[in-house]
Amino acid sequence: MSLKKVYDKQPNEFTFNDSNLKLAEKILTKYPSKNKKSAVMPLLYLAQKQNQNWIPLAAMKYIARYLSIPYINVYEVATFYTMYNLSPVGKYFVQVCTTSPCLLRGADKITKICKEKISPKQNELENNKTCSWTEVECLGACVNGPVIQINEDYYEDLNDKNTIKIIDSLLNDKPLKSGSYRNRKNTAPETNKNLNGEKNAQN
Ligand code: FES
Repeated sequence: MSLKKVYDKQPNEFTFNDSNLKLAEKILTKYPSKNKKSAVMPLLYLAQKQNQNWIPLAAMKYIARYLSIPYINVYEVATFYTMYNLSPVGKYFVQVCTTSPCLLRGADKITKICKEKISPKQNELENNKTCSWTEVECLGACVNGPVIQINEDYYEDLNDKNTIKIIDSLLNDKPLKSGSYRNRKNTAPETNKNLNGEKNAQN
């Protein structure tokens, strides 16, 4: 389980840039004006994207003012959900699913590789700040386990060999493609294989 820690070096100010201000206004139109506090989650996500994938306290205060709600209401949401990062993460942020189905399919080998190649501790930036990693709960792609999420993409059906290649590609700033690493199409069964993963005999 990931540890959520508020970063100790905080910027003093945060405001949405022009394009995000327009997006924020658009988001607000999805909610009744008396319930605009419901927009807190998409606005936090917007702030995270604007601020290199983490949310400073100044952004929470800004969103509270923007929605005319108490700061604590924003803070409690941002600190509860694991998809909000409260400290800087790497340019490539690797989230390793370690819930039971992925664990049974070898997620422990993936966390070991992350410890060796990125950082011994999760939520720590690798030396040149290219990568950081963390464990997360189910990513909702159990049938393709083990699964990792890198920024907004899923890498699925992994084993130790292809995980090493993927992490190396991130460290070299040339990420490999996302998707299934057993050439499955989405969650479809592999073609021409029986339930034991052996090739069917040709007719
Ligand atoms: S258990 Fe890993 S994606 Fe669901």
